[in-house]
Amino acid sequence: MSYDSIFRPNRRRFLKGAASLAGGAVLAGSGRAFTTLAAFAQDPPAGCPTPPSGGTHFVPGNDTRPIILRKSISAFSPAELTQLQNAYAALRALPASDKRTWILQADMHALFCDSCNNSPFDIHGSWSFFPWHRGYLYYYERILGSLAGDMDHFRLPYWDWENIRTLPTPYQTPGSSSNSLWDNKRRPGLAGGGNLPSSDGTAARITTLYGLTDFASFGGDAFSGGSLESDPHGTIHVDVGQFGGAQLDMGNLGYAARDPLFFAHHCNIDKLWSGWNDLASGSGTHYKNPTDPAFLNLRWSFYDENQQVVSISAADMLNHSTNLRYTYKSLIIRVPPIWLLLECELICCLPGPDPGPWLKVSEQVRETVIQSARANSPVVLVLHGVSLPPGVSGNFDVFATRGERRIHVGSVGIIAHGLEQKEQHSKSHKPITLTLDITQAAPELFLRDKPATLHVFRRIDEQRPGFVAKGQKLEEVFQLKAEKAEIRVAKR
Ligand code: C2O
Repeated sequence: MSYDSIFRPNRRRFLKGAASLAGGAVLAGSGRAFTTLAAFAQDPPAGCPTPPSGGTHFVPGNDTRPIILRKSISAFSPAELTQLQNAYAALRALPASDKRTWILQADMHALFCDSCNNSPFDIHGSWSFFPWHRGYLYYYERILGSLAGDMDHFRLPYWDWENIRTLPTPYQTPGSSSNSLWDNKRRPGLAGGGNLPSSDGTAARITTLYGLTDFASFGGDAFSGGSLESDPHGTIHVDVGQFGGAQLDMGNLGYAARDPLFFAHHCNIDKLWSGWNDLASGSGTHYKNPTDPAFLNLRWSFYDENQQVVSISAADMLNHSTNLRYTYKSLIIRVPPIWLLLECELICCLPGPDPGPWLKVSEQVRETVIQSARANSPVVLVLHGVSLPPGVSGNFDVFATRGERRIHVGSVGIIAHGLEQKEQHSKSHKPITLTLDITQAAPELFLRDKPATLHVFRRIDEQRPGFVAKGQKLEEVFQLKAEKAEIRVAKR
């Protein structure tokens, strides 16, 4: 069974005449680049704005602009980069009364992540996560496009961290307010040119996630977050910004969208959702979005490029190329076509030096799993309904541990919320689905005698997950508990 991941363009998705972006478009108000640091440090004048509500309904088919490829920031031509930078500069320079301002748009995100006292609800930690951000990016892209005077061709870039392991250069250099893509609230390691932690946002992680065939495990359901949301979405957020302190923009949902990198990050997340949908074939529900009306009828309000309140439903956004006029060069991951779902339980806790939790399986499942692991065929553990203690945030690593031995099986990125009084980080979290690659750890996790147990540790070293210096102690902030556990092995 081959389980390699390959990245190649998918011809099908290259629409005629859609692949080029007209460079060098004239920017409305160009030359008026903002010059002070004030725009970077600006706080909302009086707390969070009023959330937009109601508004003109988006009508599929009314957006008739050309369908344009959203590209990696690394594929932007110099002219496209200039256009992007000028558009952000114009956004930052808008007067405070405007509904499109950089800060107001960032606060829109704060409003919908329950960071404000008047937050209507939180779109994170549920199946709203993918579509809400898709709509947010769509209108943000229209605003930037109209400021660039080229709504037809301007599309957001993505930061494909699976390929670009540092902060993308245009967002970091020059590192000053002369660069509208720069943000002064990023962790010094990355901002100084460092790499992302080796475990986060990798092609291997994407491959593991693409082994999930049901939307709930991948993208969440009405009451819990999907696997992608905590890692790589959350881990990369926390890698770029801290959850508190001076470097908090990307690390705190209340501030995250103040960093232009947020939009490149989320564009990549949107690309991964799109790529997951591309794996669907034939009838059946695999790799398909929920058909539950409760999902399809979700509707949110935004401001458009004319400062008008508009609203769009989840259903409106599922076909992004036809309705929202952008497409992606498809990221094709070869995943095994058939998965066996095996029963398993996460058992906790027994008295003794290592109370667990550990995985309990039948003899038959044990055999199947061990055989798969020996053949280096993927063994994936999916934990549903994992509860996180309130107030906890940061990046965490999950290890299979046995005595001194630790095998990294996955990570969890928990992003703090908070603007206004909700700053206190005492928030409760919705349950999450956690998908762990236990291929390497399986032989020890399923030993009959004193099997390895699973533990979650706060990440100590940003660059080297799992690294512990001699004498250093790992902090176990919470114990892994799940409502349901299942193991997925590729059918051989
Ligand atoms: Cu709304 Cu990346 O978070």
